[in-house]
Amino acid sequence: MNDLEMYREQLALCDDKIIDALAERNSIIEKIMAYKETYGMPILQPAQEEKQQKRLDEKLENNKYREEIQNVFRSIQKNSKRIQARKLFSYNIVLIGFMGAGKSTISDYLSTVFDMKLVEMDQEISEREQMSIPDIFATYGEEYFRNLETNLLRELQTGKNCIISCGGGVALREQNVVEMKKNGRVVLLTASPETIYERVKDSNDRPLLKDNNNVEYIAELMEKRREKYEAAADVVIRTDNKTVLQICEELITKLTELDK
Ligand code: S3P
Repeated sequence: MNDLEMYREQLALCDDKIIDALAERNSIIEKIMAYKETYGMPILQPAQEEKQQKRLDEKLENNKYREEIQNVFRSIQKNSKRIQARKLFSYNIVLIGFMGAGKSTISDYLSTVFDMKLVEMDQEISEREQMSIPDIFATYGEEYFRNLETNLLRELQTGKNCIISCGGGVALREQNVVEMKKNGRVVLLTASPETIYERVKDSNDRPLLKDNNNVEYIAELMEKRREKYEAAADVVIRTDNKTVLQICEELITKLTELDK
């Protein structure tokens, strides 16, 4: 055997070790999840993740291939997140609720921690139409926008394990709720009119609040919509005075309880 053949053989053995190590690592991830579930522990532990990252950084500090190895670890970590997400949710997570209830913030966080695909409906519609939401309302009217929402939602039902952040009006059409439930569990985020006002008072991208950005109007519109939101929801989460992490933990707990 010449040297080249020998190196190739060594490389193949190295790959075998990596495969075994990765398979072992993934099964440990599953054990950690099962342990957390058995003892009712929070699934998301950002402090622990930071600790793990710090350990890795230290270990690689003087390594010649630090950057390349860090790169591989980023992939490994993403895969772990995906394993967790697939184990926890075999469906789409659909977030509904009033403007400013926190749908975008929560879906952003969830999609990062579980490496799940995220569709922000308003953003997707706006990109496809190449127009802001207020411009779509002003140019074509609300009905046109609502039809775009229904079409997009229908299209999204072909996939699974995705986070869908709905615009505040999506759950008001019965037909949309039927679509959401085909492959998804529906999470309603709520907040008091005062909290909502604090969150949306400086925003200009909500045509429905353009001339009515005040607590009274928000309370009135919210009350009009309440029944429909509640009827669509599989789980409800109040967001007032809670951190993003607390809301996400509550969401995970409530969704997993649905399957018990
Ligand atoms: C709407 C909510 C908005 C956007 C549009 C209409 C509504 O989305 O879809 O302005 O009817 O409540 P956000 O809830 O993300 O603000």
